[in-house]
Amino acid sequence: MWHYLMGLVGLWTLLRLIRERQVVSHLQDKHVFITGCDSGFGNLLARKLDRRGMKVLAACLTEKGAEELRNNTSKRLETVILDVTKTESIVAATQWVKERVGNRGLWGLVNNAGISIPSTLNAFLKKEDFAKILDVNLLGVIEVTLNMMSLVRKAKGRVVNVSSILGRLCLFGGGYCISKYGVEAFSDSIRRELSYFGVKVAIIEPGFFQTAISSSDRHLSHNKMLWDQASSEVKEIYDEKFLSSYETRIKLLDKLSSKDLSLVTDCMEHALTSRHPRIRYSAGWDAKLFYIPVSYLPTRLADVILFWTSTKPENTL
Ligand SMILES: NC(=O)c1ccc[n+]([C@@H]2O[C@H](COP(=O)([O-])OP(=O)(O)OC[C@H]3O[C@@H](n4cnc5c(N)ncnc54)[C@H](OP(=O)(O)O)[C@@H]3O)[C@@H](O)[C@H]2O)c1
Repeated sequence: MWHYLMGLVGLWTLLRLIRERQVVSHLQDKHVFITGCDSGFGNLLARKLDRRGMKVLAACLTEKGAEELRNNTSKRLETVILDVTKTESIVAATQWVKERVGNRGLWGLVNNAGISIPSTLNAFLKKEDFAKILDVNLLGVIEVTLNMMSLVRKAKGRVVNVSSILGRLCLFGGGYCISKYGVEAFSDSIRRELSYFGVKVAIIEPGFFQTAISSSDRHLSHNKMLWDQASSEVKEIYDEKFLSSYETRIKLLDKLSSKDLSLVTDCMEHALTSRHPRIRYSAGWDAKLFYIPVSYLPTRLADVILFWTSTKPENTL
């Protein structure tokens, strides 16, 4: 009995592997538009796809980032300045892409740009702090997609949205996790809607990686600033001792983060080039072995696990 079962699982894995290894044809003729290419995953993906011969249209937030990227890539790669929080910037970038892709349409749209500060306890934050992150990470993804949708539809192409394990499991306060939960929901809705037109939508769910967005130095100095500005009532609950153990936890998380960004960009690349892309990609061992399994647990059980692994204010326990 067990032999048959093992055989079936082995066969299923083998067939899945063979199916997923099939690559789409004429990659060199296909355009891919990526947001947030100044640094991190977006930057690495742009360079990788360029090396593979694809026509990369890389959107950077700054001219400095765009220039650096152009200096490190082939003449094929083109850059545009894009701020995903500004409608006029998105409209101009869409027109720029339209002029380049022509009748072929846009094969790949990668919604990668994102920010994570401020991410801390909700008690330290105001509505504007939430809005700032949602504006980039969620409304930015939505508005870029709405503008580029017809170009992707024309190519029967791909939309790749960068979410996070924090889009399944909320580990801290602020707008970041909320924005990623929103990206998951938006991806589900457009995947179903665009499937009628042969467009495939993939969601990337990385664990923790060492990039500018996750830099513990940036988070700690911003946290300190918020703590200094907090009301005396909040400071009484979350005292200095709590702040320092919270900081220790952030530093530890940073140390445990993976340096191998290609674990994420390999998923993005697969979603853009495989004939049979997955709907969801989890990247990093922390995501695969801890966060994703915990996200499937009953909420009460997940709460218990997260409670015991979190920092708690002393005077409440
Ligand atoms: N690193 C992780 O652990 C991790 C885990 C899960 C998911 N993610 C997600 O992965 C994506 C890429 O992040 P990353 O880790 O590669 O960090 P990153 O190096 O900071 O990349 C984010 C990029 O977005 C750009 N950006 C920021 N605001 C923008 C705006 N308003 N308009 C356009 N571009 C903007 C940044 O430009 P500047 O460099 O000029 O600021 C930067 O190039 C994000 O969506 C992030 O949420 C990261």
